[in-house]
Amino acid sequence: METDQLEVVRTISHLREAVARYRAAGETMALVPTMGFLHEGHLSLMRQGRSDHDRVCATLFVNPRQFAPGEDLETYPRDEAADIAKLQAEGVDLLFAPSVGEMYPTDAATTVLVTGITDCLCGASRPGFFEGVATVVTKLLLQALPDTAIFGEKDYQQLMVIKRFARDLDIPVTIRGGLTVREEDGLALSSRNAYLDQEARARAPELFRAISHAASEIASGANVDQAVMEARERLRSAGFNEIDYLDHRDAETLAMATDISRATRLFVAAWLGQTRLIDNVPVV
Ligand code: PAJ
Repeated sequence: METDQLEVVRTISHLREAVARYRAAGETMALVPTMGFLHEGHLSLMRQGRSDHDRVCATLFVNPRQFAPGEDLETYPRDEAADIAKLQAEGVDLLFAPSVGEMYPTDAATTVLVTGITDCLCGASRPGFFEGVATVVTKLLLQALPDTAIFGEKDYQQLMVIKRFARDLDIPVTIRGGLTVREEDGLALSSRNAYLDQEARARAPELFRAISHAASEIASGANVDQAVMEARERLRSAGFNEIDYLDHRDAETLAMATDISRATRLFVAAWLGQTRLIDNVPVV
């Protein structure tokens, strides 16, 4: 049954009923997991899903298990009414917005642990983060069983982690990546950009500029260490108070890369005051 209405479901059984209806009609479905406070980056993934599937299902769940104590779980920006309006305008068919209790039984004892590629970058600076992500995304994939699930390259390591466990666990869902959507000044869209005051917002695009410049230097033969050091300097002078990492790494294995004989990327996470921003670009 074709309908323009966004259907909002909050339980796993209602989600499965809706998906079963699509399947009975022979329709394909893309899943786009989010933590809400939706922006054009999220919506671009919805559009990507729409372009080659009959149905698009978004999920909205601020996953407590991917926030460490002391991180921003309580203050994470939320606006469900606005999110619903955006999904509706985008022609998304289904929104799964479960409660914490629906997702995690109080005696839940299972965690999905991906080793190796989670040791570096955000895995090193946010212990436990990828366990939380891998556990919730495994659950969402198994709950909805879409044909395809789409994740942004903005969180490139997350995308690689999800691809890895989906393959390792034989989850029958194709994992796709979507390009990073940016503001005009280059800043990658992020729900956490809402934390930036006017001054920090003015400084924030330097993150993208610094790694883009270093990427083009490396691509044209500059010394990798030198280019990375200059990018770090640039961030410090732009007012970033702490750099969690600024690394040149293999785009597939995420191992440190000293040359560009294979596809590589530059990855950065840095703090502007209390706000942690991440970004990455290919070296081309
Ligand atoms: P969230 O930060 O809400 O992001 C949801 C999806 O949108 C992720 O796949 C993310 O990579 C993508 N995204 C964010 N900013 C983007 C941008 N500027 N351009 C393109 N895509 C962008 O990532 C999460 O939520 C969570 O970890 C989740 C996967 C939902 C698990 O809880």
